[in-house]
Amino acid sequence: MTEGPAESELDSLLSKRLLFVTGKGGVGKTTVAASLAWLASSRHLRTLLCQVDAKGDLQRMFGHGHIGFQPERLRQNLWAMTMDTEAALQEYLKIYLRMPIMPRLGPLAKAFDFVANAAPGVREILVVGKLCWEVREDHYDIIVVDSAASGHVVSQLASPKGVGELFKVGLVSDQTTWMSQILSDPKRSGVCLVSTAEETPVQESIELAEDLENQTDISLALVVANRVFPSVFSKTEGEIFEWLDSNDQRGVIEKAVGKGWDGLVEAADLWSSISSMNKRYVQRLRSEVAGSVPLVEVSEVISVPAGFGLINEVAESIEAGLS
Ligand SMILES: Nc1ncnc2c1ncn2[C@@H]1O[C@H](COP(=O)(O)OP(=O)(O)OP(=O)(O)O)[C@@H](O)[C@H]1O
Ligand SMILES: [Mg+2]
Repeated sequence: MTEGPAESELDSLLSKRLLFVTGKGGVGKTTVAASLAWLASSRHLRTLLCQVDAKGDLQRMFGHGHIGFQPERLRQNLWAMTMDTEAALQEYLKIYLRMPIMPRLGPLAKAFDFVANAAPGVREILVVGKLCWEVREDHYDIIVVDSAASGHVVSQLASPKGVGELFKVGLVSDQTTWMSQILSDPKRSGVCLVSTAEETPVQESIELAEDLENQTDISLALVVANRVFPSVFSKTEGEIFEWLDSNDQRGVIEKAVGKGWDGLVEAADLWSSISSMNKRYVQRLRSEVAGSVPLVEVSEVISVPAGFGLINEVAESIEAGLS
């Protein structure tokens, strides 16, 4: 029997059913989540992109109108929704307790708030529960979640375990059991940790990876080092630049081209120092966060405006890095 081509890291990533994209604020979580969803839908996977906060960044990136709790179709095989705890609670009550959807939950919402404030994890489990339910019902092949930033995502992902410890028997216990099974299965669920290659985001990523490891059962599936400045000069070119910028040469060049040369040298210096700093921090991400998990570098995209063009470029980088 002849064996088919080996599964690439990207195939393996996109064969999961639930991918939580997280990282420090502002590092590119929404961009990476949108790019992964774009890649999945390009490969004919029925894809749901779910944003957990309602800041509207996805709408802006895709140039789409309002995206609410009910999924909106963005293109063939790609839908997007915004998580909403109250709508998720209503949907839960309808599915499991056959309660009709109400315009407002009124007193029930107050009762829910009371329980949610008293019992940690109850609010968070609605978010994770809705996503796991979509997996269980097989509505999509893959769900990519533009998750909350570092701190909050751990309590969301730990919630089925925490709530399961509060309710040992009954309906809630049954539900936390199947949710935990989905989340703890590395074939079905994973976290994609995004970081820029700088001191604070890398430090935060190291801590986040430790918290996920210690407090949840979900596995790390991918590390994305985002906005990396590629090195533009080889070692020899760098030496030539240094020589041209030496005192002897500088006078000659300035005589020929004027003071403009200074700006060029400063720009080249700045680029080189950011690029070598990025290189060091990518290395740290590789050794202290990723370990045996794939790490992909995504370059700082300069030539296209933010929005759809950026998603496309980032998707191409991820595809190339994981093939
Ligand atoms: N590879 C890249 N090259 C250039 N710009 C990028 C890249 N990735 C992200 N950006 C830009 O960085 C900014 C932050 O990106 P994004 O909104 O995806 O981050 P975020 O982690 O979701 O932020 P928040 O924590 O606020 O939700 C945006 O302006 C986006 O266009
Ligand atoms: Mg975001």
